[in-house]
Amino acid sequence: MSEDFYRIKRLPPYVIAEVNAMRHAARQAGRDIIDLGMGNPDQPPPPHVIDKLCEVARKPNAHGYSQSKGIPGLRRAQASYYQRRFGVELDPQSEIVVTMGSKEGLASFATAITAPGDVVLAPSPSYPIHTFGFIIAGATIRSVPTTPGEEYWRELDRAMQYTVPRPTMLVVNYPSNPTAEVVDLEFYQRVVDWARENGVWVISDLAYSELYFDGVPTPSIMQAEGAKEVAVEFTSMSKTYSMAGWRMGFAVGNRELIAALTRVKSYLDYGAFTPIQAAACAALNGPQDIIESNRQLYQKRRDVLVESFGRAGWEIPPPAASMFAWAKLPKGFESMGSLEFSKRLIEEADVAVAAGVGYGEEGEGYVRIAMVENEQRIRQAARNIKRFLAKSGG
Ligand SMILES: Cc1ncc(COP(=O)(O)O)c(C=O)c1O
Repeated sequence: MSEDFYRIKRLPPYVIAEVNAMRHAARQAGRDIIDLGMGNPDQPPPPHVIDKLCEVARKPNAHGYSQSKGIPGLRRAQASYYQRRFGVELDPQSEIVVTMGSKEGLASFATAITAPGDVVLAPSPSYPIHTFGFIIAGATIRSVPTTPGEEYWRELDRAMQYTVPRPTMLVVNYPSNPTAEVVDLEFYQRVVDWARENGVWVISDLAYSELYFDGVPTPSIMQAEGAKEVAVEFTSMSKTYSMAGWRMGFAVGNRELIAALTRVKSYLDYGAFTPIQAAACAALNGPQDIIESNRQLYQKRRDVLVESFGRAGWEIPPPAASMFAWAKLPKGFESMGSLEFSKRLIEEADVAVAAGVGYGEEGEGYVRIAMVENEQRIRQAARNIKRFLAKSGG
């Protein structure tokens, strides 16, 4: 019997999982590891959202299968969000589908629209589902830069010119995980124009729609003229409302793409637990204070991270958005590689970060630092790292 499974062969071991296992082992051994590795929000959702979950969960009729595409009220709530936040009108019936987190949404979407051998343009470094969702679905990836500079456009054009078969999809993710880079609406307009010209679908991941700093809101690709012709966009309640474990997200945009995702999902799932969907409505329609308070919380942590790590001898470029900083390995450690460096940080400084190589070849030489511990612990991490840098000397 062959264990040479076609898809499994194409999935390298999840690098993040390797570092997570080390962190877990260190904690089991009683060590206090400061975990700046995984992008797992440390705050709870607002109380009224939890109350709604409990209230609906007590109803005897709330426990059956739900609707795969999401209950109508939740799709309407997402339409209202896009209207008030981006000024974009969406039809809740044909242009919105609820997903069980945006990760599931992206994976099901890849299954829905990919034919074996399709070429997908995906950024490197990137959040793994942006490449592996499509690889699992049988696609080939052609990497393009994550940094949205002129080189980005040159690479897109080169990819269209030289790749056979011609690429059919482009993935964009800003604010970027892992690099925290951001774009403006002009960039999205150029992407949409380029995609229309080249006959390419665009998949935008806007998981960090609300975690922007210094008062500069991040745009949606849906604001670009003609976006609905070519684009679909995924958003998530995980970071915006600190609901990561609830598994709640959305896809919006082009009707054909939404219909394809809805169709595949109708075969794969019965939708999220109804009380979760009802509580998600309460989050989207109710008081929005948590968005601003989360933004301030992460911005403050960013400032503490940049300042305290800088004093420890490690310059961290301040991220403009997201919950991550993307930093080059400190001076003298460059040749070690990001995985080895991350392991040494756990072993010798009790600090977990995510190795950049886990986000693709272009991520080598970097680590991603998640701002998911409080300010005091970020300062403690900086003190530990200072000692580690002094001892190891690079
Ligand atoms: C860019 C990006 N997209 C999607 C996700 C997945 O989010 P969700 O919890 O909605 O599945 C994450 C989670 O970290 C992310 O960083």
